[in-house]
Amino acid sequence: MPVSDAFLQKNFNVDSIEILNKLFHQAEQELGPKPAGSKITRVKTGTDFSDEEDDAHQSLVTPSSFLKIDGLPGILMLASGEHKILGTGTSARVKLAIDKHGTLYAIKIFLPPKSIIQKQQIQNIQEEHRKLHELQIAPGASFFSQKKFRVKLYSVQHYLGHPIDSFLQDNPHLNFKTRMHLAIALCIKLHQLHTGGLPQAHTPYVHFDLKPQNITIQLGKEHFISIHLVDFGSARPLVILGEDDVIPEQMGSLIYLPVDAIQMVDKGMIQERARAFQRAQGMCPCDLIGLKRILNFHRELLVYYPQACSIFREADIVLLSPAIQALLSTLEVNTTAADESALFIAAALANELCSVTEKHDLTTLKANPQLQQSLLDALAPPALSEELASEHYLGQFTHA
Ligand SMILES: Nc1ncnc2c1ncn2[C@@H]1O[C@H](COP(=O)(O)OP(=O)(O)O)[C@@H](O)[C@H]1O
Ligand SMILES: [Mg+2]
Repeated sequence: MPVSDAFLQKNFNVDSIEILNKLFHQAEQELGPKPAGSKITRVKTGTDFSDEEDDAHQSLVTPSSFLKIDGLPGILMLASGEHKILGTGTSARVKLAIDKHGTLYAIKIFLPPKSIIQKQQIQNIQEEHRKLHELQIAPGASFFSQKKFRVKLYSVQHYLGHPIDSFLQDNPHLNFKTRMHLAIALCIKLHQLHTGGLPQAHTPYVHFDLKPQNITIQLGKEHFISIHLVDFGSARPLVILGEDDVIPEQMGSLIYLPVDAIQMVDKGMIQERARAFQRAQGMCPCDLIGLKRILNFHRELLVYYPQACSIFREADIVLLSPAIQALLSTLEVNTTAADESALFIAAALANELCSVTEKHDLTTLKANPQLQQSLLDALAPPALSEELASEHYLGQFTHA
C-alpha cells in the first residue's frame, strides 16, 4: 500500500513521494560506493537532535537520515518523527524506514553492550536473521557497521504493523466479535508457524517468546486485518520432543512460560519448570501456553505481571462456553497437552460463533482436524471484522 503525503510528512519530514524520490536519487550517488551501514545523517534543528554521530563528509542536506543496507532495496530512509521507534525489546530497538517506492521497513538495530561484540552474539543475530529470511520477514542479509568505537548490527525486515499490546490498550472498547476474530487470526498464524505453512517456510518452528509485544496487527482497506509474529530470536525448528539441546537458553518472558500460578512465586524455578514441562509435553505446548495467556491473561496471574494485556477481557471470557473457558485457562499448565494445537484452539473459538445447534463438543473437534479446518473456512475473510473495517480504525492504521 503506497504511503500518503501526510504520512511521509509526519514520519520522514518529506512533503511528497516526488521529493522522496529526488532525495533518494541524490543519496544513491553519495552512498552507492560505500559499504553497508554507511549513513547520511539528517539536518538537525535547534530542538531536534539526531542520536546518530555526524558524518563530516556528507554533501546532501536531508530532513531524514539515509542508511545503506546490504542487499535490496539498497538504501533506506529512516523515520525521524515521533514514531520513528517502532519498539524497543530486550536486545535491540526497531526503527521505521522507507524505500524510494514508499514501501515501509522495520530495521532492528542491535547495540552490543560496551561496544564489544562477542562472536556468539554475532552468530545469534545472524541466526535470528536467517530465520526471518526463511519466513520471508527479512528481504536481505543482516550486516554491521563500526564507527570509531561504536558497533551496530542491523537486521532489515518488512514492516509488519502496530504492536498488538498498544493496540489493545488504545482500544479498550473493541467488541467481543472483533476480539474473537483477532484471537482466531493469531491462532492460525501460530499454527502456520508450527506446521511450516508460512510463505516459503519449509521448516516448522516453535516461537518460544510469544507475548503481546511480539505480535503485530496490520489493517488494510478491504475489511482485511492480518496478525503477524515478530522477534524470532528464541525460535527453534520443531524437532523431536525432549531434546535438551534445542531448548533455548532464554525462553522468553517468564510470565508467558508454562508454569502454574502457584510456581510463579519462585522465579528461580520458572525456567527449570518450563524445561521440565517441555520435556514432558513437547515443544508446541510451550507456545500454546503463551498463546492462551495472550488470549486470556488470568486475573490470578496479574499479581505477578500487572501490566499484562490480553485479547479477551474478563467480560468476554464469561461469554464463552465453560469448555472453552477451561481450554483457555493456564492456571494449571499440565491441562495443555501435546494433542492440542493452535489450529484446534482456533477452531474451538470459531465453534463458539456457531449457533447452538451447529456447535460441536470439544472432544469431537479435537480429534478431527478436517472438521477444525472446515469451521475456520466457514469464517471466510475478507469480512474479518466489521468493527475494524470502520473508518475510525482504518484512519489510525492505513498509510494511504
Ligand atoms: N517487522 C516488524 N514490524 C513492525 N514492528 C516490529 C517488527 N519487528 C519488531 N517490531 C517491534 O519492535 C519491538 C522490538 O523488536 P523485537 O524483535 O521484539 O526485539 P527484541 O528481540 O529486543 O525483543 C517489537 O516488540 C515490535 O513492537
Ligand atoms: Mg521482542
